[in-house]
Amino acid sequence: MNSALRGDYTLNNSDTLTLIQVTDAHLMSEKGGRLLNVDTDDSLAAVLDLVMDHPGTPDALLITGDIAGDGASAAYERMALALGVIHAPSFWLPGNHDDCDASKIDHEHFIRTATNPHWLIVMLDSQQPDAVGGHLVATELDALSQAVDRANQEGKHLLIALHHPSQPVGCDWLDPQRIANSAAFELEVQRCRQQVVVISGHVHQESDQVIGDIRYLTTPSTCIQFAPNQVNFKVDDQAPGYRWLRLSPSGEVETGVERVIDREFPVDLNSGGYL
Ligand SMILES: [Fe+2]
Repeated sequence: MNSALRGDYTLNNSDTLTLIQVTDAHLMSEKGGRLLNVDTDDSLAAVLDLVMDHPGTPDALLITGDIAGDGASAAYERMALALGVIHAPSFWLPGNHDDCDASKIDHEHFIRTATNPHWLIVMLDSQQPDAVGGHLVATELDALSQAVDRANQEGKHLLIALHHPSQPVGCDWLDPQRIANSAAFELEVQRCRQQVVVISGHVHQESDQVIGDIRYLTTPSTCIQFAPNQVNFKVDDQAPGYRWLRLSPSGEVETGVERVIDREFPVDLNSGGYL
């Protein structure tokens, strides 16, 4: 499987970077399509309205997978259109619900790395065919290894973005879906001599943990949320949102989550799951 991720982007800011993570939009084949009763185009638009109110201009948006809910090409076109309201480049990577058929996806967004003088961002594809859970194939581990080498050589801090988390977040039903070969991932990441932050989607909930000097973050979906600390699938009534990150030249990471507060998106709370 060839990765859709390629190319290197130079960010035009040598000071503190402001990044916005937008994840798990689950846009359906038709505009206005719903996931557990939530119109995912509408909730994405509400989140992007909130992003537009974020102080300052973001240097980039990171779209961390499950852009489409069912892999429809129209979903990627509508994501590009929706992001057009924000004047910043957006970098996309695939999740388990995405279909990376080259004919369907606008490849200009699927970049591998982005840099400024102090930070290297590497995007990884943790998708595996016909599976919900994550895995890094050899080419993705190679890309990570090269990014760690480059960050070490250039004295840069490293931000790794991928759809599936590598660490458990505390939900028994979701945690087995994290990267199956997370030990190989961790071995690479631990070679990094500067600061490392890892951002993921997939779990539709906020988490923030530091394990062995590495910061692991997950982020609410732009549509439905999963309740934290659950044994079985459970939807939460929290609002959709996004994560912001401020990455300083010295490697400090400030981050937080913002949620839509002026709209309600009634979700089917009694759902037993979805595929
Ligand atoms: Fe996912």
